[in-house]
Amino acid sequence: MTPKVKAFFDAETFTVSYLVQDPEGDACAIIDSVLDFDHASGRTNTRSADEIIGYVQSNSLRTEWILESHVHADHLSAAPYLQQKLGGKIGIGDQIVAIQETFGKIFNEGTEFQRDGSQFDALFRDGDGFHVGQMRGDVLHTPGHTPACMTYVIGDAAFVGDTLFMPDFGTARCDFPGGSSGDLYNSIQRILSLPDATRIFVGHDYKAPGRDEFAWETTVEEQKALNVHIGQGRSIEEFVEMRDARDATLAMPRLILPSLQVNMRAGQMPPEDENGDVFLKLPVNKL
Ligand SMILES: [Fe+2]
Repeated sequence: MTPKVKAFFDAETFTVSYLVQDPEGDACAIIDSVLDFDHASGRTNTRSADEIIGYVQSNSLRTEWILESHVHADHLSAAPYLQQKLGGKIGIGDQIVAIQETFGKIFNEGTEFQRDGSQFDALFRDGDGFHVGQMRGDVLHTPGHTPACMTYVIGDAAFVGDTLFMPDFGTARCDFPGGSSGDLYNSIQRILSLPDATRIFVGHDYKAPGRDEFAWETTVEEQKALNVHIGQGRSIEEFVEMRDARDATLAMPRLILPSLQVNMRAGQMPPEDENGDVFLKLPVNKL
């Protein structure tokens, strides 16, 4: 089955959100949405999410799923806003509980912050299946970038989140808490064992040397042949050495602190302070 895939690119955070549509019906799923956030002013904006909502409504689609490939560290999720406007269930990998444990500590959250994944409607395990209309989706646990990363395979399309990027850019960083370049290598091998013609939709694009346009769609065959970090049968030792050396040079993403606090709550803001306002924390010397 070949789902119809519409990409929405957010140039502020280089994130690609996807709308996946059953070609024979009106069912759809939304993967990795963005709530715009201006760090300097602390203001949110729904411009990116409204674009997706506009598309869903003008095509009379029915939203069954709002999926997260993982707890993003570079943008806030718009999942609760989309759910309020469009319905659908919010799903993420079941290892989210490990992420909630780690970041619950880092942000010194109280007992109001449940570390059991209950903020989400569905927690997927490796090998789980789901449906979008008549289309079957399969869930692969693909840790490495984070321990809870999932790949969603729907028909001939794999939504790989932050595992592989475009072949000329390579792979995702593995230096966040709980990340592992060895795990990422093994996860990528699982993705590359899908049929060669499988369409791969990546979670971010940053352009690449010699490429001046953003891109987000490739195939398993192209990745195996051309991925600059892992293609042509690169060994795990070679990959881990390259990835770890490169990660040691990377700065933290601009929105990591707000993103984690919101995304570990399934995109909800923390509870209001006594005065009715919402605050995000900025832990000093913690990351
Ligand atoms: Fe990420």
